[in-house]
Amino acid sequence: MMKYTIPFNKPHLTGREAHYMYQAVNLGKLSGNGEFTKRCQAFLEQRYGFKKCLLTTSCTDALEMCALLCDLTPGDEVIIPSYTFVSTALAFVRVGAKVVFADSMQRNPNLDAEKIEALITPRTKVIVPVHYAGVACDMDRIMEIAEKHHLLVVEDAAQAIDSYYKGRPLGSIGHLSAFSFHETKNIIAGEGGCLCINDERFIRRAEILWEKGTNRAEFFRGEVNKYGWVDIGSSFLPSEVIAAFLWAQLESMDEIQAKRKALWERYGQNLLPLAREGRFQLPDLPDYATNNAHMFYLVCPSLEDRTALIERLKAQGMLAVFHYLSLHASPYYQDKHDGRPLPECDRYADCLVRLPLYYDLSLDEVDRICAVIKG
Ligand SMILES: Cc1ncc(COP(=O)(O)O)c(C=O)c1O
Repeated sequence: MMKYTIPFNKPHLTGREAHYMYQAVNLGKLSGNGEFTKRCQAFLEQRYGFKKCLLTTSCTDALEMCALLCDLTPGDEVIIPSYTFVSTALAFVRVGAKVVFADSMQRNPNLDAEKIEALITPRTKVIVPVHYAGVACDMDRIMEIAEKHHLLVVEDAAQAIDSYYKGRPLGSIGHLSAFSFHETKNIIAGEGGCLCINDERFIRRAEILWEKGTNRAEFFRGEVNKYGWVDIGSSFLPSEVIAAFLWAQLESMDEIQAKRKALWERYGQNLLPLAREGRFQLPDLPDYATNNAHMFYLVCPSLEDRTALIERLKAQGMLAVFHYLSLHASPYYQDKHDGRPLPECDRYADCLVRLPLYYDLSLDEVDRICAVIKG
């Protein structure tokens, strides 16, 4: 296997993870919903104003909880961008929903809010905007459409921690939202996620789904004198060991974000002149969005250009990667898709390349990567 001098990602440790994991062990309660879980949830609720947070073992799990909470019946339709990770769609397909794929915008890979209404039918129940690279979708427009058509909005905020739309934290605008703490994200727990509930109607059921369909959370709060099986659900909650790791990361949020932003800005300064020459498209930040420095990507003019760029970087020991084969063209969903062409999704699938971006990368390494890109 090729060894890269600059890998695509290196999980960053703040140095406090083992300390808190040891504390969790000493507290003598290792299953979920203990001290560290509560600390992480309270931190996220206070910092971002989510009404209720529940840690999960992944963003995929949080999205599965969202799909259950939307209470869909087979054949109900959910509008999802095609240029996204499998889990966005998978969670809804598992509950029998039909996914109606939306195209991305030309300016960035987010779904085009202006094209949503044309996809709405009497069976439409949910819109799932994905904040690609942590850059906000046009949430005012999406919420306005949802309200007009009585739809729910689930934000896939997997990449969007600490990012904002018109001053409002991403994940706090839709009825429900889901974050990822996978090792490739800004804040990590190895595998991990969080369900955020902004519409109070969903809180009680979410707690039940989280705890294997039981009302255990109410029992532990002393609200009922015994607990039992009251609904469907699963074991969505992570152990305290994971929550303790996550706590070390959340505590260092501002420092992590500041470093990532400095690296991101450096890429921008280096590569803007080339983008102006038309060599590629750079990440785009609409006026309403902030940058959480989750990802620095380039959109090349063609698949051939992208392959050549990845190869050039590889020859210098630098790993750049592409991702997301449009879901409407995936082996699993292509015969279920309604056949509409989604040209922008296909363009990003063919032409987008992600550059290395992780806390322990140096500004000098960014300069070296950019020198290879300049050729
Ligand atoms: C947009 C999006 N949604 C969902 C997920 C799934 O996250 P997890 O790996 O935490 O399940 C990812 C992961 O990369 C993602 O990028």
